[in-house]
Amino acid sequence: MGKDVIIALDFKSGQEALAFLDKFKDRTLYVKVGMELYYAEGPSIIQEIKKRGHKLFLDLKLHDIPNTVEKAMAVLSRLDVDMVNLHAAGTIEMMKAALRGLTRKDGSRPLLIAVTQLTSTSQERMTEELLIREKIDDVVIKYAENADIAGLDGVVCSPLEAGKIHDVCGTSFLTVTPGVRFDDASKGDQVRVTTPAKAKELGSDYIVVGRPITQAEDPAAAYDRCVKEFVEVSK
Ligand code: C5P
Repeated sequence: MGKDVIIALDFKSGQEALAFLDKFKDRTLYVKVGMELYYAEGPSIIQEIKKRGHKLFLDLKLHDIPNTVEKAMAVLSRLDVDMVNLHAAGTIEMMKAALRGLTRKDGSRPLLIAVTQLTSTSQERMTEELLIREKIDDVVIKYAENADIAGLDGVVCSPLEAGKIHDVCGTSFLTVTPGVRFDDASKGDQVRVTTPAKAKELGSDYIVVGRPITQAEDPAAAYDRCVKEFVEVSK
């Protein structure tokens, strides 16, 4: 499975996002568009980014009844994105419905991955507010197994969980991991962070990197550093 660095395009407008992409000249990238940018601009920003030749992960984290998710995924499949996601908490039935909706007439489809527990959810809140009494690590693994059973391609998780998830769901089950920082940089609001090199060592398939690249003085150089550490150097 090819490793790649996905740049989180966390910008509030298409204009800002495209100006950022211009800094990379003719290079083709793998980028992530989340709710903020998508809700601001709609499908046009996806088409514009795809027109420039980039790969695109549309991070909308769907979570609704199976029928609604199936139909929404059918719409997203027409956008020519490369990866989309949903919440595993929607159950195996919802994930299967999502796959059906996403699969085009010719059998092709974007990769579909699941969010297990959001990294912003603490053990305490999960237990007290959601009444899930298991250990959060076990919940993450169980949700990953559910995604695997439903036929999904992988999960979003912490690099620290990637190895265990591969042990349980197999090495070809993708782990897409945010929470990446260079060892000489501030963490921002991320708590459990790893460097690109460490993420590779831990078995991540894709790292999702936002501010270390978007806020860098030289974003192209920061991106190159990620690629060097994650894709080219360590094993
Ligand atoms: O700027 P930073 O590198 O922290 O950005 C990480 C990106 O990954 C953001 O777009 C954030 O929403 C996303 N993400 C995350 N943790 C998750 C899921 C997604 O940080 N569990």
